[in-house]
Amino acid sequence: MSGVFKRRSIRKYTSQEITKEDLEDLLKAGLAAPSAGNQQPWHFILLTDKELIKEIPKIHPYSAMLNEASAAIVVCGDLEKEYHKGYWVQDCSAATMNILIRAAEKDIGSVWLGVYPREDRVEGIKKLLNIPDNVIPLCVISLGYPAEEKPVKDKFDFSKVHYNKF
Ligand SMILES: Cc1cc2nc3c(=O)[nH]c(=O)nc-3n(C[C@H](O)[C@H](O)[C@H](O)COP(=O)(O)O)c2cc1C
Repeated sequence: MSGVFKRRSIRKYTSQEITKEDLEDLLKAGLAAPSAGNQQPWHFILLTDKELIKEIPKIHPYSAMLNEASAAIVVCGDLEKEYHKGYWVQDCSAATMNILIRAAEKDIGSVWLGVYPREDRVEGIKKLLNIPDNVIPLCVISLGYPAEEKPVKDKFDFSKVHYNKF
C-alpha cells in the first residue's frame, strides 16, 4: 500500500533505534520535496540526543510522545532563502509530508507536531536549538518504531470534492 494511505500519526514507540541510514533516507525524502521556484528554503535539524529531545515537551504542550521517540526532525524555513515571498510554509509543509510518507513506507512511526505560528513554541524551539533569527521552525516530526497499531482511516469524504465549479 502506498505510504500516503498507510500513514497515521503514531505516538507510542518501542525502544528500537532508527539507524543513521534510515534517518538519512528520511532527510533525503524531505530534500526531494517541490518548492516554489525551486527555492528550497528549508533546513532540517536532526535530533538524536534523547536529553535534548525531552526538552521539547517542556516547550510544546502536545508533544509528550517525544519522551519515547528514537529521533526527531525539526523542519525550518529560512526567510533569507525565500525568493518568492510567502511560500516558505507551503514549501516546508511539502518537505514535512515527504518525510511522513517515507517514514510510513519504511514502517517507522511519525507524527507532525505544529510549531509555527504559535509564537511561544517558535521562540522556545529557537532558543533550545540555537536557531538564527532568519530561520523559523515550522514543525517537529517525532519518530520511532510503532508500539501501537492504527488502522487505515476512512477519510474519503467526497462531499469535500467539487467538480469543475465549487
Ligand atoms: C499542522 C499540524 C499540526 C499538528 N500538531 C500536532 C501536535 O501538536 N500534537 C499531536 O499529537 N499531533 C499533531 N498533529 C497530528 C494530527 O493530530 C493528526 O494528523 C490528525 O489527528 C489526523 O490523524 P492521522 O495523522 O493519524 O491521520 C498535527 C498535524 C498537523 C498537520
